[in-house]
Amino acid sequence: MDILKKIEKFREDEQKLKWEGTFAEYLEILKETPLVAQSAHSRVYNMIRDAGIEEVNGTKKYNFFSGQLFGLEDSLERLIEEYFHPAAKRLDVRKRILLLMGPVSGGKSTLVSLLKRGLENYSLKDSGAIYAIKGCPMHEDPLHLIPQYLRDDFFEEYGIRIEGNLSPLNVMRLEQEYGNRIEDVMVERIFLSEDKRVGIGTFSPSDPKSQDIADLTGSIDFSTIAEYGSESDPRAYRFDGELNKANRGMMEFQEMLKCDEKFLWHLLSLTQEGNFKAGRFALISADELIVAHTNETEYKAFISNKKNEALHSRIIVMPIPYNLKVTEEEKIYEKMIRESDVSDVHIAPHTLRVAAIFSIMTRLKDPKKGDIDLVKKMRLYDGENVEGFNSADINELKKNIKMKA
Ligand SMILES: Nc1ncnc2c1ncn2[C@@H]1O[C@H](COP(=O)(O)OP(=O)(O)O)[C@@H](O)[C@H]1O
Ligand SMILES: [Mg+2]
Repeated sequence: MDILKKIEKFREDEQKLKWEGTFAEYLEILKETPLVAQSAHSRVYNMIRDAGIEEVNGTKKYNFFSGQLFGLEDSLERLIEEYFHPAAKRLDVRKRILLLMGPVSGGKSTLVSLLKRGLENYSLKDSGAIYAIKGCPMHEDPLHLIPQYLRDDFFEEYGIRIEGNLSPLNVMRLEQEYGNRIEDVMVERIFLSEDKRVGIGTFSPSDPKSQDIADLTGSIDFSTIAEYGSESDPRAYRFDGELNKANRGMMEFQEMLKCDEKFLWHLLSLTQEGNFKAGRFALISADELIVAHTNETEYKAFISNKKNEALHSRIIVMPIPYNLKVTEEEKIYEKMIRESDVSDVHIAPHTLRVAAIFSIMTRLKDPKKGDIDLVKKMRLYDGENVEGFNSADINELKKNIKMKA
């Protein structure tokens, strides 16, 4: 099939996935597949799980990351089983900011972008479908329309818990456009897309003095104040910050610790209470997974500052240390060359292996045990059988892993 045909087919497929209906009709969908109302955390976990999880020699292998991330199995298992999984089950860890911490070029950004691209694709599948109030700039969860005092009844009938309150803009729209008839509010299926700013956001720190909190939380559109008469009219507000746009999906917070503290407190209120403050409105509820990352040096400076204690206790740190397996390191190089424009250049046999050996040796600490040398240690780590040593020794050695920043 040539590319033009494929483009046409893609457009047709996309068209088929579209859905639009009233809130009453949406409830019919929920009766059949309550899963469409899952939280952002739960969606991320289910996406990883649906791709398949295998267990090889006691280590979990996640198909979602295979072929893309190498040598990070232990870190991934920890991240998924200690954060994504319990967070998906609404346990308390989801209330902490997830911070990936590790050396530069260790694969943190790659991991996060795999999650982002994954979510975009997952929202096209039946199992990852997401619905939102039509015309809402934050693609608000339609279930927020159900008033607080009916939520227990709703849970009884549908088995779905509702978190969060209707945003000020939709409170107003409900009244003015729908005459308070909740059942008539239009709902549509949405497809996550970073390019279209639907459910996927990225925040990167710039100059701390000039960066505006509006980048995160949106801002007043002064040109419309004359029309609406007041700064507290939600129609005069642009809900276009990264936190607004990432609602229902995930937001990547790059190099979090380079950022001014005031930004972090907004994040904290979002992860802890599920809402954040913007303009002169009541709190805005949002449901999104926030993944921040930082390198080790900055993290060390951050925790050594007493002033940061409160923040620190609300962050869950997931270490992403360097890969320490030669074979996996070789795969990283192969991948990087394959993806480059020099993929056709001849490379002498064993070149990448030697380069990988060199890298790994610089990452390993000198062994404490007298009878093992660095080369043996390296081979043990790579899963080779080394005379006189066994896997128990590896665990012993692993305690001495050195993380280089
Ligand atoms: N464990 C890994 N598996 C696969 N590729 C990796 C790994 N670590 C680093 N890379 C590659 O190295 C480059 C830099 O990684 P990146 O994700 O930007 O690191 P970080 O954000 O931690 O500084 C990327 O091209 C990435 O593909
Ligand atoms: Mg990075």
